[in-house]
Amino acid sequence: MKIDLDQLTPKQIVRELDKYIIGQNKAKKSVAIALRNRMRRRMLPESLREEITPKNIIMIGPTGVGKTEIARRLSRLCGAPFIKVEATKYTEVGYVGRDVESMIRDLMSIGVTMVKSELSEGVKEEAAQRTEEILLDLLLPGVKSKTVPSAETGDQALVQSGAGSSTRDKFRKMLKEGKLEDKVVEVNVSSNSFPAIEIFSGTNFEEMDLNLGNLSSMFGGKKKKKRVPISRAREILMAEEMNKLVDTERASEIARERVEEMGIIFIDEIDKVAAKEGRSGADISREGVQRDILPIVEGSKVSTKYGIVDTSHILFIAAGAFHISKPSDLIPELQGRFPLRVELEDLTSEDFQKILTQTENSLTKQYVELLKTEEVTLVFTEEATKTISEIAAEVNTTTENIGARRLHTIMELLLEDVSFNAPDLKGQEIRVTPEYVEEKLSTIVRDQDLSRYIL
Ligand SMILES: Nc1ncnc2c1ncn2[C@@H]1O[C@H](COP(=O)(O)OP(=O)(O)OP(=O)(O)O)[C@@H](O)[C@H]1O
Ligand SMILES: [Mg+2]
Repeated sequence: MKIDLDQLTPKQIVRELDKYIIGQNKAKKSVAIALRNRMRRRMLPESLREEITPKNIIMIGPTGVGKTEIARRLSRLCGAPFIKVEATKYTEVGYVGRDVESMIRDLMSIGVTMVKSELSEGVKEEAAQRTEEILLDLLLPGVKSKTVPSAETGDQALVQSGAGSSTRDKFRKMLKEGKLEDKVVEVNVSSNSFPAIEIFSGTNFEEMDLNLGNLSSMFGGKKKKKRVPISRAREILMAEEMNKLVDTERASEIARERVEEMGIIFIDEIDKVAAKEGRSGADISREGVQRDILPIVEGSKVSTKYGIVDTSHILFIAAGAFHISKPSDLIPELQGRFPLRVELEDLTSEDFQKILTQTENSLTKQYVELLKTEEVTLVFTEEATKTISEIAAEVNTTTENIGARRLHTIMELLLEDVSFNAPDLKGQEIRVTPEYVEEKLSTIVRDQDLSRYIL
């Protein structure tokens, strides 16, 4: 479900996030406010609007408490161009790796794809018609609606246009009735989706496009002939025709405005590029990444293949556990550009129980549905989920605190036998009770060394 994020009130945004994330109200609230502020800003007169910069946010919290999850959910309900990046993926300009400006280019590509798919809705009908004509051309190579030279004899004997078009109509009818779906035809496929992208890591996408462009033109054009059934040919041709009909220039213009005004960039693992006192070589390069990020967050112009993008009003949300480093270890200029700090709280066993049972796609629901495909009915009693949650909290304190991720490891172990034997359990009901949980888990939980490895 896509909603125009900027149309939502802060309360509505929080309510949407509540469906998936338990607790963390402060974080949800500040994200909601930041988004709303942008909408407010857009309603102001131009002169004032330019002055107002986004209130960027840093989310601070231990591992596994929902930082990335908030970003993920936000992006799902987002009508705005959104990208999540990892700070550690970037390297200082001049070093091998991705430079930070690529995040803007990537965001812009996302925006363009988004706008294109909206615009293509409007040209669907025309594209479908064109596709049909092309399919008929493929099915009846000699028979065009115009007169064409006869292929067999090689001379200029002309095929009677009347006879040709009646055959064409017959085929058109069969095509419409779906009688030709399996017939194989030869189509030209543009080989844009180049699979070996990783080979070029180190260069950025823009350069890569150039390289590929040169390469493929060297080998004689991007098109590749492929034999496929009509059903597949239709998909390929339809996509191509839609692409042709959508005005790329207009799409990139709309996209650029949307990215500049509504784009959101979530920078995960920001703490990993924050250096502590006493620098080593690696720290210096981390600081370099921060220095590179700074102008983008402050607002600069980044050139992309869709034109120049002004980053001044893009909203940045950074997140990190900040176990070793602190936000104050970030370079001061960058700290100033993230005025809002929110701390996420540790999750309690009550939170765990809610995560297990109440969220939209909770873990228990997932397992129930998975086993349903094997015709096994899985039932969790409420006490059982309570026991599981208590065990998760306990293991988190006795070994390492990995937050809600602990629930995944515990559930996996708990249901290992059922999962394994499911095909033989067809038609049965498995009730997960506190006793069942005890039986499966107690020995491991009691033994700290064991749980360190298994849970
Ligand atoms: N508050 C929460 N409500 C619901 N699910 C949660 C919550 N916190 C974490 N989870 C679940 O736990 C898993 C890990 O959470 P997430 O990826 O958000 O951790 P994180 O805070 O980003 O940790 P890290 O610092 O390690 O990146 C996800 O599968 C998520 O669904
Ligand atoms: Mg994370």
